[in-house]
Amino acid sequence: MTKDKFEYRKDTAFINREKELDYLRGFINERPESILFIHGPKSSGKTTLLYKFLAQLEKEQKLDIKFLNLRKKLIANYRDFIRIFFGIDYGPSKGDIKETREYGIFNFFKLSAAVLKGMESGALDPFEIMKREFVKLNKKGVKPVLIIDELQAIDHVYMNNGEKRHVIIELFNFFVAMTKESHLAHIIIASSDGYFLNTVYNDSRLKKTSKFYKVDYLQEGDVMEWLLNLEKHSKIKDYALTREEAGKIWDTVGGSMWEIQDILSELFAEPLEPVLELYKRKMRGIIDFYIGLNPGRKQVLKAFVENDSLGLKDFASLGIEVGALEELLREMVKNNILYFDPTDAVYYPQSKSYRWGIDIYFETLKEK
Ligand SMILES: Nc1ncnc2c1ncn2[C@@H]1O[C@H](COP(=O)(O)OP(=O)(O)O)[C@@H](O)[C@H]1O
Ligand SMILES: [Mg+2]
Repeated sequence: MTKDKFEYRKDTAFINREKELDYLRGFINERPESILFIHGPKSSGKTTLLYKFLAQLEKEQKLDIKFLNLRKKLIANYRDFIRIFFGIDYGPSKGDIKETREYGIFNFFKLSAAVLKGMESGALDPFEIMKREFVKLNKKGVKPVLIIDELQAIDHVYMNNGEKRHVIIELFNFFVAMTKESHLAHIIIASSDGYFLNTVYNDSRLKKTSKFYKVDYLQEGDVMEWLLNLEKHSKIKDYALTREEAGKIWDTVGGSMWEIQDILSELFAEPLEPVLELYKRKMRGIIDFYIGLNPGRKQVLKAFVENDSLGLKDFASLGIEVGALEELLREMVKNNILYFDPTDAVYYPQSKSYRWGIDIYFETLKEK
Protein backbone atom coordinates (compact mmCIF):
# COMPACT_ATOMS: atom_id res chain seq x y z
CA MET A 1 0.00 0.00 0.00
CA THR A 2 1.31 3.46 -0.82
CA LYS A 3 1.65 5.91 2.01
CA ASP A 4 -0.07 9.20 1.31
CA LYS A 5 -0.07 12.40 3.26
CA PHE A 6 -3.83 12.38 3.54
CA GLU A 7 -6.28 10.06 5.24
CA TYR A 8 -9.37 8.38 3.85
CA ARG A 9 -12.39 7.45 5.89
CA LYS A 10 -12.00 3.97 4.38
CA ASP A 11 -8.86 2.35 3.00
CA THR A 12 -8.18 -0.85 1.04
CA ALA A 13 -7.81 -3.87 3.26
CA PHE A 14 -5.52 -6.83 2.90
CA ILE A 15 -6.75 -9.82 4.86
CA ASN A 16 -4.78 -12.97 5.59
CA ARG A 17 -3.48 -14.91 2.52
CA GLU A 18 -0.76 -16.55 4.61
CA LYS A 19 -1.48 -19.95 3.10
CA GLU A 20 -1.34 -18.61 -0.46
CA LEU A 21 1.82 -16.60 0.18
CA ASP A 22 3.48 -19.68 1.68
CA TYR A 23 2.53 -21.73 -1.33
CA LEU A 24 3.99 -19.17 -3.74
CA ARG A 25 7.15 -18.89 -1.71
CA GLY A 26 7.51 -22.67 -1.76
CA PHE A 27 7.13 -22.64 -5.53
CA ILE A 28 9.89 -20.06 -6.00
CA ASN A 29 12.20 -21.88 -3.64
CA GLU A 30 12.34 -25.03 -5.75
CA ARG A 31 14.28 -25.29 -8.98
CA PRO A 32 11.83 -24.45 -11.78
CA GLU A 33 10.15 -27.56 -13.11
CA SER A 34 6.65 -26.54 -14.01
CA ILE A 35 4.51 -23.59 -14.92
CA LEU A 36 2.15 -22.41 -12.22
CA PHE A 37 -1.37 -21.46 -13.27
CA ILE A 38 -3.18 -19.30 -10.77
CA HIS A 39 -6.90 -19.27 -11.32
CA GLY A 40 -9.94 -18.14 -9.42
CA PRO A 41 -13.15 -16.19 -10.04
CA LYS A 42 -13.10 -12.57 -11.10
CA SER A 43 -11.89 -10.31 -8.29
CA SER A 44 -10.86 -13.21 -6.08
CA GLY A 45 -7.67 -11.34 -5.26
CA LYS A 46 -5.17 -12.93 -7.67
CA THR A 47 -3.50 -9.73 -8.78
CA THR A 48 -3.39 -8.26 -5.30
CA LEU A 49 -1.88 -11.48 -3.95
CA LEU A 50 0.81 -11.51 -6.62
CA TYR A 51 1.77 -7.90 -5.93
CA LYS A 52 1.95 -8.63 -2.24
CA PHE A 53 4.10 -11.68 -2.94
CA LEU A 54 6.45 -9.59 -5.07
CA ALA A 55 6.77 -6.92 -2.45
CA GLN A 56 7.69 -9.53 0.18
CA LEU A 57 10.08 -11.45 -2.05
CA GLU A 58 12.02 -8.48 -3.28
CA LYS A 59 13.03 -7.77 0.27
CA GLU A 60 14.21 -11.34 0.86
CA GLN A 61 15.92 -12.67 -2.24
CA LYS A 62 17.95 -11.72 -5.27
CA LEU A 63 15.33 -11.92 -7.92
CA ASP A 64 14.59 -10.42 -11.26
CA ILE A 65 10.85 -10.30 -11.40
CA LYS A 66 9.07 -9.39 -14.57
CA PHE A 67 5.45 -8.72 -13.91
CA LEU A 68 3.26 -8.21 -16.89
CA ASN A 69 -0.33 -7.24 -16.30
CA LEU A 70 -2.09 -7.74 -19.61
CA ARG A 71 -5.36 -6.42 -18.32
CA LYS A 72 -4.03 -2.92 -18.76
CA LYS A 73 -2.79 -3.60 -22.30
CA LEU A 74 -4.48 -3.69 -25.63
CA ILE A 75 -2.93 -6.40 -27.75
CA ALA A 76 -4.37 -6.54 -31.24
CA ASN A 77 -1.55 -8.19 -33.16
CA TYR A 78 1.93 -9.65 -33.10
CA ARG A 79 3.61 -6.26 -33.17
CA ASP A 80 1.73 -5.21 -30.02
CA PHE A 81 2.72 -8.47 -28.38
CA ILE A 82 6.41 -7.86 -29.11
CA ARG A 83 6.20 -4.24 -28.00
CA ILE A 84 4.63 -5.21 -24.71
CA PHE A 85 6.90 -8.13 -23.94
CA PHE A 86 10.00 -6.29 -24.98
CA GLY A 87 10.11 -2.60 -24.17
CA ILE A 88 12.63 -0.59 -26.16
CA ASP A 89 15.66 0.47 -24.24
CA TYR A 90 16.77 3.83 -25.57
CA GLY A 91 19.83 3.74 -23.31
CA PRO A 92 23.37 4.43 -24.58
CA SER A 93 24.40 0.82 -25.23
CA LYS A 94 23.72 -0.05 -28.85
CA GLY A 95 23.64 -3.38 -30.60
CA ASP A 96 23.22 -6.16 -28.14
CA ILE A 97 20.63 -6.53 -25.47
CA LYS A 98 21.20 -4.23 -22.60
CA GLU A 99 21.01 -5.77 -19.18
CA THR A 100 18.11 -4.67 -17.15
CA ARG A 101 19.08 -3.95 -13.63
CA GLU A 102 15.89 -2.37 -12.50
CA TYR A 103 13.94 -4.45 -10.03
CA GLY A 104 10.76 -2.54 -10.55
CA ILE A 105 7.50 -4.18 -11.36
CA PHE A 106 6.68 -2.71 -14.69
CA ASN A 107 9.75 -3.20 -16.82
CA PHE A 108 9.92 -6.26 -18.94
CA PHE A 109 12.78 -7.23 -21.21
CA LYS A 110 14.32 -4.06 -22.51
CA LEU A 111 16.06 -4.32 -25.84
CA SER A 112 17.85 -2.09 -28.28
CA ALA A 113 15.75 -0.68 -31.10
CA ALA A 114 17.63 -2.82 -33.64
CA VAL A 115 16.87 -6.09 -31.85
CA LEU A 116 13.26 -5.08 -31.50
CA LYS A 117 12.98 -4.33 -35.23
CA GLY A 118 14.51 -7.71 -36.01
CA MET A 119 11.86 -9.42 -33.93
CA GLU A 120 9.01 -7.44 -35.38
CA SER A 121 10.04 -8.35 -38.91
CA GLY A 122 10.31 -12.01 -37.96
CA ALA A 123 14.10 -12.11 -38.51
CA LEU A 124 14.88 -12.63 -34.83
CA ASP A 125 13.18 -15.18 -32.63
CA PRO A 126 11.66 -13.46 -29.60
CA PHE A 127 11.90 -16.63 -27.55
CA GLU A 128 15.59 -17.02 -28.26
CA ILE A 129 16.08 -13.50 -26.93
CA MET A 130 14.06 -14.15 -23.80
CA LYS A 131 16.10 -17.28 -23.20
CA ARG A 132 19.38 -15.38 -23.48
CA GLU A 133 18.11 -12.99 -20.85
CA PHE A 134 17.23 -15.85 -18.51
CA VAL A 135 20.62 -17.51 -18.97
CA LYS A 136 22.39 -14.25 -18.21
CA LEU A 137 20.43 -13.76 -15.02
CA ASN A 138 21.10 -17.31 -13.84
CA LYS A 139 24.82 -16.83 -14.40
CA LYS A 140 24.70 -13.73 -12.25
CA GLY A 141 23.02 -15.66 -9.45
CA VAL A 142 19.69 -13.94 -9.93
CA LYS A 143 16.48 -15.96 -10.12
CA PRO A 144 14.28 -14.86 -13.00
CA VAL A 145 10.59 -14.91 -12.19
CA LEU A 146 8.10 -14.22 -14.92
CA ILE A 147 4.56 -13.41 -13.89
CA ILE A 148 1.88 -12.81 -16.47
CA ASP A 149 -1.52 -11.64 -15.35
CA GLU A 150 -4.68 -12.00 -17.45
CA LEU A 151 -2.93 -13.95 -20.15
CA GLN A 152 -6.11 -14.50 -22.13
CA ALA A 153 -5.47 -11.05 -23.64
CA ILE A 154 -3.18 -12.61 -26.24
CA ASP A 155 -5.55 -15.45 -27.06
CA HIS A 156 -6.17 -14.22 -30.61
CA VAL A 157 -2.62 -13.18 -31.59
CA TYR A 158 -0.63 -15.00 -34.28
CA MET A 159 3.09 -15.21 -34.98
CA ASN A 160 4.62 -13.04 -37.65
CA ASN A 161 6.84 -15.58 -39.35
CA GLY A 162 4.58 -16.47 -42.23
CA GLU A 163 2.90 -19.34 -40.44
CA LYS A 164 -0.50 -19.06 -38.86
CA ARG A 165 0.62 -20.14 -35.43
CA HIS A 166 -0.87 -18.95 -32.20
CA VAL A 167 1.51 -16.84 -30.13
CA ILE A 168 0.05 -18.40 -27.03
CA ILE A 169 0.97 -21.93 -28.02
CA GLU A 170 4.47 -20.84 -29.00
CA LEU A 171 4.76 -18.98 -25.73
CA PHE A 172 3.77 -22.02 -23.73
CA ASN A 173 6.07 -24.35 -25.57
CA PHE A 174 8.78 -21.86 -24.71
CA PHE A 175 7.68 -21.77 -21.07
CA VAL A 176 7.84 -25.57 -20.91
CA ALA A 177 11.39 -25.42 -22.25
CA MET A 178 12.33 -22.76 -19.69
CA THR A 179 10.88 -24.68 -16.74
CA LYS A 180 10.67 -28.43 -17.20
CA GLU A 181 13.57 -28.77 -19.63
CA SER A 182 16.20 -26.17 -18.79
CA HIS A 183 15.00 -24.99 -15.34
CA LEU A 184 15.94 -21.40 -16.11
CA ALA A 185 13.03 -19.37 -14.85
CA HIS A 186 9.95 -19.49 -12.67
CA ILE A 187 6.80 -18.87 -14.61
CA ILE A 188 3.52 -17.92 -13.03
CA ILE A 189 0.41 -17.29 -15.08
CA ALA A 190 -2.79 -15.85 -13.63
CA SER A 191 -6.21 -15.65 -15.18
CA SER A 192 -9.81 -15.49 -14.08
CA ASP A 193 -10.76 -17.35 -17.22
CA GLY A 194 -10.40 -20.92 -16.02
CA TYR A 195 -11.78 -22.22 -19.27
CA PHE A 196 -9.08 -20.46 -21.24
CA LEU A 197 -6.38 -21.88 -18.97
CA ASN A 198 -7.83 -25.31 -19.40
CA THR A 199 -7.76 -25.02 -23.19
CA VAL A 200 -4.17 -23.87 -23.21
CA TYR A 201 -3.29 -26.66 -20.83
CA ASN A 202 -4.87 -29.29 -23.02
CA ASP A 203 -3.60 -27.84 -26.28
CA SER A 204 0.10 -27.73 -25.92
CA ARG A 205 2.70 -29.97 -24.38
CA LEU A 206 1.66 -28.65 -21.02
CA LYS A 207 0.09 -31.67 -19.45
CA LYS A 208 2.34 -32.90 -16.69
CA THR A 209 4.38 -29.73 -16.95
CA SER A 210 2.13 -27.34 -15.13
CA LYS A 211 -0.03 -27.13 -12.08
CA PHE A 212 -3.16 -25.25 -11.14
CA TYR A 213 -3.50 -23.28 -7.94
CA LYS A 214 -6.77 -21.71 -6.96
CA VAL A 215 -6.99 -18.32 -5.30
CA ASP A 216 -10.51 -18.05 -4.01
CA TYR A 217 -12.58 -15.46 -2.19
CA LEU A 218 -11.93 -15.15 1.55
CA GLN A 219 -13.11 -17.77 4.02
CA GLU A 220 -15.80 -17.02 6.56
CA GLY A 221 -13.32 -16.68 9.43
CA ASP A 222 -11.31 -14.09 7.51
CA VAL A 223 -14.39 -12.11 6.58
CA MET A 224 -15.53 -12.03 10.21
CA GLU A 225 -12.08 -10.97 11.35
CA TRP A 226 -12.21 -8.11 8.83
CA LEU A 227 -15.76 -6.96 9.54
CA LEU A 228 -15.41 -7.11 13.30
CA ASN A 229 -12.21 -5.05 13.16
CA LEU A 230 -13.03 -2.40 10.62
CA GLU A 231 -10.77 0.21 12.09
CA LYS A 232 -7.77 -2.09 12.06
CA HIS A 233 -8.24 -3.43 8.51
CA SER A 234 -10.09 -0.68 6.67
CA LYS A 235 -9.36 2.39 8.80
CA ILE A 236 -13.08 2.89 9.29
CA LYS A 237 -13.79 4.88 12.43
CA ASP A 238 -17.29 6.11 11.65
CA TYR A 239 -19.11 2.88 12.47
CA ALA A 240 -18.59 -0.67 13.73
CA LEU A 241 -20.48 -3.89 13.03
CA THR A 242 -21.89 -6.45 15.45
CA ARG A 243 -21.25 -10.16 14.92
CA GLU A 244 -24.81 -10.56 13.69
CA GLU A 245 -24.45 -7.74 11.17
CA ALA A 246 -21.12 -9.08 9.94
CA GLY A 247 -22.80 -12.47 9.50
CA LYS A 248 -25.48 -10.88 7.31
CA ILE A 249 -22.85 -9.39 5.02
CA TRP A 250 -21.16 -12.80 4.77
CA ASP A 251 -24.53 -14.32 3.98
CA THR A 252 -25.07 -11.86 1.13
CA VAL A 253 -21.72 -11.66 -0.64
CA GLY A 254 -19.61 -14.36 1.00
CA GLY A 255 -15.88 -13.72 0.86
CA SER A 256 -15.95 -11.54 -2.25
CA MET A 257 -13.70 -8.69 -1.15
CA TRP A 258 -14.65 -6.21 -3.79
CA GLU A 259 -18.32 -6.56 -2.90
CA ILE A 260 -17.59 -6.34 0.81
CA GLN A 261 -15.73 -3.07 0.19
CA ASP A 262 -18.67 -1.83 -1.85
CA ILE A 263 -21.10 -2.58 0.96
CA LEU A 264 -18.81 -0.99 3.55
CA SER A 265 -18.88 2.23 1.50
CA GLU A 266 -22.66 2.23 1.42
CA LEU A 267 -22.82 1.84 5.18
CA PHE A 268 -21.51 5.38 5.74
CA ALA A 269 -24.89 6.65 4.58
CA GLU A 270 -27.41 3.83 4.99
CA PRO A 271 -28.32 1.19 7.59
CA LEU A 272 -27.30 -2.39 6.87
CA GLU A 273 -30.68 -3.97 6.11
CA PRO A 274 -31.70 -1.72 3.20
CA VAL A 275 -28.16 -1.80 1.81
CA LEU A 276 -28.21 -5.61 1.66
CA GLU A 277 -31.78 -5.67 0.34
CA LEU A 278 -30.85 -3.31 -2.47
CA TYR A 279 -27.74 -5.34 -3.16
CA LYS A 280 -29.72 -8.52 -3.70
CA ARG A 281 -32.22 -6.71 -5.90
CA LYS A 282 -29.37 -5.38 -7.97
CA MET A 283 -28.03 -8.91 -8.41
CA ARG A 284 -31.47 -10.12 -9.48
CA GLY A 285 -31.50 -7.30 -12.01
CA ILE A 286 -28.14 -8.35 -13.41
CA ILE A 287 -29.40 -11.91 -13.90
CA ASP A 288 -32.66 -10.68 -15.40
CA PHE A 289 -30.79 -8.48 -17.86
CA TYR A 290 -28.39 -11.26 -18.77
CA ILE A 291 -31.09 -13.85 -19.36
CA GLY A 292 -33.25 -11.44 -21.31
CA LEU A 293 -35.43 -13.60 -23.53
CA ASN A 294 -32.80 -16.25 -24.09
CA PRO A 295 -34.20 -19.68 -23.14
CA GLY A 296 -30.79 -21.37 -23.13
CA ARG A 297 -29.30 -18.96 -20.63
CA LYS A 298 -32.39 -19.31 -18.48
CA GLN A 299 -32.27 -23.12 -18.42
CA VAL A 300 -28.60 -23.21 -17.56
CA LEU A 301 -28.89 -20.70 -14.72
CA LYS A 302 -32.01 -22.37 -13.35
CA ALA A 303 -29.96 -25.53 -12.85
CA PHE A 304 -27.91 -23.66 -10.25
CA VAL A 305 -30.91 -23.01 -8.01
CA GLU A 306 -30.55 -26.59 -6.82
CA ASN A 307 -26.93 -27.39 -7.64
CA ASP A 308 -23.74 -25.86 -6.32
CA SER A 309 -21.63 -26.78 -9.33
CA LEU A 310 -22.15 -28.73 -12.54
CA GLY A 311 -19.95 -30.46 -15.08
CA LEU A 312 -20.84 -30.74 -18.73
CA LYS A 313 -22.27 -34.24 -18.32
CA ASP A 314 -24.41 -33.17 -15.35
CA PHE A 315 -26.36 -30.77 -17.56
CA ALA A 316 -27.27 -33.66 -19.83
CA SER A 317 -28.39 -35.85 -16.95
CA LEU A 318 -30.55 -32.98 -15.69
CA GLY A 319 -32.30 -33.10 -19.03
CA ILE A 320 -30.99 -29.72 -20.13
CA GLU A 321 -31.08 -29.84 -23.88
CA VAL A 322 -29.60 -26.59 -24.97
CA GLY A 323 -28.21 -26.35 -28.48
CA ALA A 324 -24.48 -25.66 -28.46
CA LEU A 325 -24.34 -26.01 -24.68
CA GLU A 326 -20.57 -25.85 -24.57
CA GLU A 327 -20.50 -22.59 -26.48
CA LEU A 328 -23.15 -21.11 -24.24
CA LEU A 329 -21.21 -22.09 -21.13
CA ARG A 330 -18.07 -20.63 -22.68
CA GLU A 331 -19.90 -17.35 -23.23
CA MET A 332 -21.17 -17.37 -19.65
CA VAL A 333 -17.64 -17.85 -18.37
CA LYS A 334 -16.32 -15.05 -20.59
CA ASN A 335 -19.04 -12.76 -19.29
CA ASN A 336 -18.12 -13.67 -15.73
CA ILE A 337 -21.56 -15.03 -14.93
CA LEU A 338 -20.24 -18.53 -14.34
CA TYR A 339 -16.80 -19.63 -13.28
CA PHE A 340 -15.12 -22.69 -14.75
CA ASP A 341 -12.87 -24.52 -12.33
CA PRO A 342 -10.23 -26.29 -14.41
CA THR A 343 -9.20 -28.67 -11.63
CA ASP A 344 -12.59 -30.33 -11.31
CA ALA A 345 -13.95 -29.31 -14.74
CA VAL A 346 -17.11 -27.85 -13.22
CA TYR A 347 -19.09 -24.65 -13.73
CA TYR A 348 -20.67 -22.58 -11.00
CA PRO A 349 -21.93 -19.02 -10.45
CA GLN A 350 -19.11 -16.45 -10.04
CA SER A 351 -19.93 -15.66 -6.45
CA LYS A 352 -22.46 -15.88 -3.67
CA SER A 353 -24.19 -12.68 -4.75
CA TYR A 354 -24.77 -14.20 -8.20
CA ARG A 355 -26.41 -17.15 -6.49
CA TRP A 356 -28.72 -14.71 -4.74
CA GLY A 357 -29.48 -13.04 -8.04
CA ILE A 358 -30.30 -16.41 -9.62
CA ASP A 359 -32.40 -17.61 -6.66
CA ILE A 360 -34.44 -14.43 -6.44
CA TYR A 361 -34.90 -14.25 -10.20
CA PHE A 362 -36.50 -17.72 -10.30
CA GLU A 363 -38.34 -17.13 -7.02
CA THR A 364 -40.06 -14.00 -8.40
CA LEU A 365 -40.91 -15.82 -11.65
CA LYS A 366 -42.87 -18.36 -9.64
CA GLU A 367 -44.79 -15.67 -7.81
CA LYS A 368 -45.98 -14.02 -11.00
N1 LIG B 1 -6.61 -10.28 0.84
C1 LIG B 1 -7.48 -9.29 0.56
N2 LIG B 1 -8.17 -8.68 1.55
C2 LIG B 1 -9.04 -7.71 1.27
N3 LIG B 1 -9.29 -7.24 0.05
C3 LIG B 1 -8.64 -7.80 -0.99
C4 LIG B 1 -7.69 -8.84 -0.79
N4 LIG B 1 -7.20 -9.22 -1.98
C5 LIG B 1 -7.82 -8.43 -2.90
N5 LIG B 1 -8.67 -7.57 -2.32
C6 LIG B 1 -9.52 -6.61 -3.01
O1 LIG B 1 -10.38 -7.33 -3.89
C7 LIG B 1 -10.52 -6.67 -5.14
C8 LIG B 1 -10.15 -7.58 -6.28
O2 LIG B 1 -8.79 -7.96 -6.18
P1 LIG B 1 -7.93 -8.34 -7.46
O3 LIG B 1 -6.58 -8.70 -6.95
O4 LIG B 1 -8.01 -7.30 -8.50
O5 LIG B 1 -8.68 -9.63 -7.97
P2 LIG B 1 -8.40 -10.53 -9.30
O6 LIG B 1 -7.05 -10.19 -9.79
O7 LIG B 1 -8.54 -11.92 -8.82
O8 LIG B 1 -9.49 -10.17 -10.27
C9 LIG B 1 -9.67 -5.42 -5.03
O9 LIG B 1 -10.51 -4.35 -4.72
C10 LIG B 1 -8.72 -5.71 -3.89
O10 LIG B 1 -8.36 -4.54 -3.21
MG1 LIG C 1 -6.51 -9.52 -11.64
